[in-house]
Amino acid sequence: MDTSLRDDPVFAAEALDGLRSDPKWIDSKWLYDAEGSAIFEEITQLPEYYPTRTETRILREEVHALQRVLAPGTVLVELGSGASVKTRILLDGADHLAAYVPVDISARFLEETAHGLRQHYPDLDISPVIADFTGDIDLPPALDGAPKTVFFPGSTIGNLPHDTAAAMLGRIRRWNGIGALILGIDLVKDTGTLVRAYDDSAGVTAAFNLNLLKRMNREIGADFDLSAFTHEARWNTAHSRIEMHLVSQDDQVVPVAGADIHFSRGETIHTENSRKYTRDSLAAIARKGGWEIADFLTDPDRLFAVAILEPSGRSPGPGE
Ligand SMILES: C[S@@+](CC[C@H](N)C(=O)[O-])C[C@H]1O[C@@H](n2cnc3c(N)ncnc32)[C@H](O)[C@@H]1O
Repeated sequence: MDTSLRDDPVFAAEALDGLRSDPKWIDSKWLYDAEGSAIFEEITQLPEYYPTRTETRILREEVHALQRVLAPGTVLVELGSGASVKTRILLDGADHLAAYVPVDISARFLEETAHGLRQHYPDLDISPVIADFTGDIDLPPALDGAPKTVFFPGSTIGNLPHDTAAAMLGRIRRWNGIGALILGIDLVKDTGTLVRAYDDSAGVTAAFNLNLLKRMNREIGADFDLSAFTHEARWNTAHSRIEMHLVSQDDQVVPVAGADIHFSRGETIHTENSRKYTRDSLAAIARKGGWEIADFLTDPDRLFAVAILEPSGRSPGPGE
């Protein structure tokens, strides 16, 4: 269990808030405790889950374009770093980075990943930061003046509402020494391919989603019967996103953190959004955050893209 988050009053308060809303929802960041992070790594290996292998291929083939923003002395900051697997392509392709700073909310998984990376890259300064990337991120003060490139892969930005994503890009844009952002985004495509990627035949994504209920049982005194909920992935055309839901199989009352939460049969908890982009929709969010697309690297089937963003002339104010 993530000791840093055990009995986390913030988790209890946010979960209760969402479960008392109509429709019910819980922020997808809570899917990632150590168990959730480990299941996510299994998802990345599934035949239906094209994003990881496609993004990996783009990064491998375009390593020269990436080296342009990874000059010697650069600090590489990765947001939502998870198992830092794709990062190794960047670390292997770059020369004399000043440091690697993986940032993730999944505390124990982050520490274990950093430990493994230190064995593999003994000469690199690896300084993990446990943080919610939608808020202020306290980078190590010693790296304050250094040039920085941010890596934000996995289309994790697609989990965030537009305004949250743009505000986050705006905060990064104001960092001292910021030079570039390498951003992995999933592209709009046929609905069947998208739904299968989030509802695999082996049921791994279902286990990932249901782990949220297990986590609430473990950490905030909930008593969900996991067999009374099923996983569902839906395409929402209006918002250009895949949604993950947990569907109540019956009318039921579930104790959560001292409250009774009522579910009717078929009612869902909305647990994740995964927005799919076009170059134009990404450019619009980037512009709001003070960035422009310098390079847009894709695979031959245009399933996924790695965009290299550079600061635009104008930096957004803190309120924007
Ligand atoms: C979709 S996974 C991507 C993992 C990895 N970067 C990859 O590309 O395979 C999302 C990652 O972001 C982390 N994460 C999700 N929400 C977060 C938040 N609000 N703040 C910090 N990390 C978050 C998760 O713990 C997880 O490691």
